[in-house]
Amino acid sequence: MRTVYRGLLSNAVRFSVPSILSFTFSFVQTRSSGICGTNLKMEKNREEKENVIKTHPRLNKMQQVMHSDSSAGWEKCWEQGLTPWDLGQATPIVVHLHQSGALPKGRALVPGCGTGYDVVAMASPDRYVLGLEISDIAIKKAKELSSLLPNAKYIGFLKADFFTWRPAELFDLIFDYTFFCAIEPDMRAAWAQKIKDLLKPDGELITLIFPISDHIGGPPYKVAVSDYEKVLHPMGFRATSIVDNELAIGPRKGREKLGRWKRSVSLSLL
Ligand SMILES: C[S@@+](CC[C@H](N)C(=O)[O-])C[C@H]1O[C@@H](n2cnc3c(N)ncnc32)[C@H](O)[C@@H]1O
Repeated sequence: MRTVYRGLLSNAVRFSVPSILSFTFSFVQTRSSGICGTNLKMEKNREEKENVIKTHPRLNKMQQVMHSDSSAGWEKCWEQGLTPWDLGQATPIVVHLHQSGALPKGRALVPGCGTGYDVVAMASPDRYVLGLEISDIAIKKAKELSSLLPNAKYIGFLKADFFTWRPAELFDLIFDYTFFCAIEPDMRAAWAQKIKDLLKPDGELITLIFPISDHIGGPPYKVAVSDYEKVLHPMGFRATSIVDNELAIGPRKGREKLGRWKRSVSLSLL
């Protein structure tokens, strides 16, 4: 497998994707204070927003594009190279889980897979991984990145809307990283319903819970473990473990947790 990762890394460099160092999907940390009074709070919110704008102009531009066109916003971001979330490589925890044999085998799905690094990192003779994307440009990039890799035959990319797509076969694993935080918060219940519909009854959902923060607006929208519980519990999912992601990349450290979820047998009739 080492060869696969070396290949992936050199491909990542060849395609000149942004490096971790230039990664800007990390927000100005905002902390709630003890300030009381609506005016003071509004003033503080305004200051925080301005702070984000000053500190992360690309992020702000991306949010403007998203809000100006709710249906084609993602494609426009890809078109304009406004992809501050893109690590330019698989997230290290996925590589670690794969290499240590800690991922379910079978069929895996990565919704909102972007350039597909995590898809590539998990694909192996034991595991076929499908990356799902709403953006044509992202799919094209992902296919270019992966087509010559030694594990290419265990990888698929499909352009489809996660919320309406109906596959012929269910999945043993769904891996969500920066998809939950990318969708509008009022779509989270639909996200959980779809996860349930797409997973085999004994399948596993793995979420990287990020960004744990109290910033305003999005995408990415702030998340907390309780946001996942709120929508996953009614679907019969329970966390089997939630731990800090010690392998989170620098700017995301301390704001990212690894959550593993399964549907309990007694709740799976829900
Ligand atoms: C914040 S990006 C994350 C990409 C990738 N997971 C990563 O970490 O690099 C969210 C991605 O979800 C895709 N997306 C948004 N809505 C979608 C939907 N309804 N179905 C499939 N993909 C979607 C966007 O095009 C975008 O590439």
